[in-house]
Parts: sequence; C-alpha cells; structure tokens
Amino acid sequence: MMQPFVKLITLLVALLGLATALVGVVGFVVFLSFSGVQLPPLSSSPVSVAQAVAEIPAVKALMEPEGMWIAPDLSNLEGDPDAEKIKYGRELIANTAEYLGPNGKVKAISNGLNCQNCHLQAGTAPLGNNYGAVASTYPKVRARSGQSEDIPKRINDCFERSLNGQPLERDSKEMIAMVAYMEWLGKEVPKGEKPKGVGIYEVPLLDRAADPVKGKLVYDNQCVSCHQADGQGMPRQDGLGYIYPPLWGDHSYNQGAGLFRLSRFAGYVKANMPLGATYQNPMLSDEEAWDVAAYVNSLERPSKDLSGDWPDISKKPMDHPFGPFSDDFTEEQHKFGPFKPIQEAKQKASK
Ligand code: HEC
Ligand code: HEC
Repeated sequence: MMQPFVKLITLLVALLGLATALVGVVGFVVFLSFSGVQLPPLSSSPVSVAQAVAEIPAVKALMEPEGMWIAPDLSNLEGDPDAEKIKYGRELIANTAEYLGPNGKVKAISNGLNCQNCHLQAGTAPLGNNYGAVASTYPKVRARSGQSEDIPKRINDCFERSLNGQPLERDSKEMIAMVAYMEWLGKEVPKGEKPKGVGIYEVPLLDRAADPVKGKLVYDNQCVSCHQADGQGMPRQDGLGYIYPPLWGDHSYNQGAGLFRLSRFAGYVKANMPLGATYQNPMLSDEEAWDVAAYVNSLERPSKDLSGDWPDISKKPMDHPFGPFSDDFTEEQHKFGPFKPIQEAKQKASK
C-alpha cells in the first residue's frame, strides 16, 4: 500500500533537487555577467577544439637557426675519389646492426643499436648529437682517457660503451669508411672550430636533484608507446636492429657510455624526444628532461670496468657518478644533482 506514496515522495524530492540546481546555475551565470567575468564561448564543435590547440603558444626554440652547421649535400659526392668509402661509412652509421650487430653480416661485435639511434640522421641533425665538429677537433686529448684520441679511437669508444661491444680494427674497411664519412661531413669546418648546433644541447641546471619517481611519470606518458614499459624497445622482424631501440637492460648502452651521464641524456632527449621533437620544437620541459634521464639511468644496464677512466679525478665531469672525486660531494649527488653546488665548487677549485 505504501509503495506508490514512497515513489511519489522520491519523485518530488528529485524534482526539488533539480529545480534548486537550475536556480543555482542560472543565479551563478547572472552573478558572473554582472561581475564582469568573461565566460568561454559555449561551443564544443571539433573545429573549435582544433583552433584551441593551434592557439597554444609555440614552445621556444632551443637555438636560433642562423649560422648553424649544415651537413654537406650527399648528391654532390659525384666525382669525389672517396665517394664509395663515404657512402659505405654513412650506411654503417645508419644501419650498424645490419653489418656489425649480433647477427651482423660483416662481424658480430655490438649490441644491435645503430650509431644513428643516438647520432640522428647519420650524424647530421642539428643538436642531434651530430658529427659536425669531429673532423675539426680530432685528434685531441680527452680527459676521460687522459690520452690523445684520433677519430678511430673515438669511434671505438662508442662501440665499447654505447654499443656495449668490441672495438673495430683500425685498418678494417669499415673503420676506414666511417672515418672518411666523418671527415667529409666536417670538411668545411676550420680546424679547431666547433660550429653552432654541434653535439648535444646543454639543458639549464635545476635547483633540485633530478627525480626518478617524477621521471617514471614522464616515461609512462611520453616514451612508453615506443620504448615499451620494460624499456626493451621493439626489435625489427629480421633481427637486424630495432624499430624502437632499448633504453635499459642487457641490450642497451653500458655504464661507461656518454648517455649514462644525466646531462648528456637530458640534452639528447630535450632536443630530440619523443620522436618528432627537434631543437626548434622541443616537447619536454627542462624538468621533464632531467627527471626522465634520472629514471632511465637508475635502472639496470651492463656495467664496464671504468678503473682506467678519468686518470686525473679533478677532471671528472660534475655528473660522472663513480668516485673517487676531488670534491666532497657524494656519488648520489654526482649522479642526480643538484649540480649547481658541484659546479660552483669546481669553478672555485680551478681559480
Ligand atoms: C647510446 C647512444 C650512442 C650510440 C648508439 C653511439 N653513440 Fe657516439 N656518442 C654518444 C654520446 C652521448 C657522445 C658524446 C656527446 C657529448 O659528450 O657531447 C658520443 C660521441 C661520439 C663521437 C665524438 C663526437 C665529438 O664531437 O666529439 C663520435 C665520433 C661518435 N660518438 C661515434 C659513434 C659511432 C661511430 C657510433 C656507432 C658505432 C656511435 N657513436 C654510437 C652516444 C652514442
Ligand atoms: C614515437 C616513438 C618514440 C617515442 C614516443 C620516444 N622515442 Fe626515443 N627513440 C625512438 C626512435 C625511433 C629512436 C631511434 C632514432 C633513430 O634511429 O633515428 C629513439 C632513440 C632514443 C634514444 C637513444 C637510443 C637509445 O636506445 O638509447 C633515447 C635515449 C630515447 N630515444 C629516449 C626517449 C625518451 C626519454 C622518450 C620519452 C620522453 C622517448 N625516447 C620517446 C622513438 C621514440
């Protein structure tokens, strides 16, 4: 007997609630229109969404393009006595794994990465870790080895560290070709000069330590679709390298590699990742770049005997994470920062 009555009451209460809500909304809008607050236009068509996206101000380029190093044009190689060598050198940089990876057709001496994975567009991309200053600045004494290094030695550094592999014979056809390619790339650069846009971008230092926990969020949102949740990337079907290269684990660069230093990793990704970012259109904030570097470089990767590195410990870069150091900062701080105090101490010591 009671049921229809209960239903009626419920209905009335609901109507009352709705009416109150409506009065509230109308009242709020009236209040806003009198208070001078601007309401966004009430339109939800896809066109206006696209417009809204296009109106987001463009991110600032990391460098003005004027005066940046540009690689010579491959189509001008015609008639160059070294043309074949140069082309083979370029091919080896772009498709290293096909020739020298675990299933390489020349020799199996490296982990499946291509040089080009880190030296984008075969070492020609502006702020893409390019080779524009190799011909002009080598041989040079490098603090990491404490020795004078020529181009073949420097190439082998990357084979043994970034490609976690073995060195290539200095007089092999492959080494000669890669050196010829780098010399050709830098042929217009005056000796000793390091042109604008060469190498890796220097991301401004943070006032705090880089944070692997925040970095994981960046990774999960902006990297995982290609490099995968386990960081192992996506191998090519033919087993000759990767569509998306691995970022940690057994098949990645080892602890002696340049990218294991946070500043190198942050600078590389700031100007080049996620894929499609460039120095003119960076996609990560400085904080995101440092934090994702901290996350990736806090995970497992191959080790390397580094006891011969940095024979003069005072020359260790601020972000070399293995002691002994010539200052009192911990390995932890040398790995994640904050780096400003380390840099200031270095400047004081060198005065
Ligand atoms: C995992 C990333 C990675 C891979 C793969 C890699 N490199 Fe490198 N390479 C680096 C980094 C990082 C540096 C140091 C850049 C810096 O300190 O500014 C570097 C530096 C160099 C330099 C010196 C550039 C200069 O201007 O001083 C040469 C030459 C070089 N690499 C050659 C190679 C070759 C050849 C291969 C393939 C056999 C290769 N690299 C693969 C990351 C990589
Ligand atoms: C849309 C796919 C895609 C996304 C998203 C992406 N990458 Fe990459 N990444 C690549 C590809 C492809 C390469 C190799 C580039 C080449 O060979 O030209 C690469 C190379 C790299 C390398 C150097 C090679 C190596 O294996 O060490 C690093 C480091 C890297 N990415 C980090 C990141 C980080 C960090 C993010 C997220 C902020 C990210 N990437 C997002 C596709 C992607």
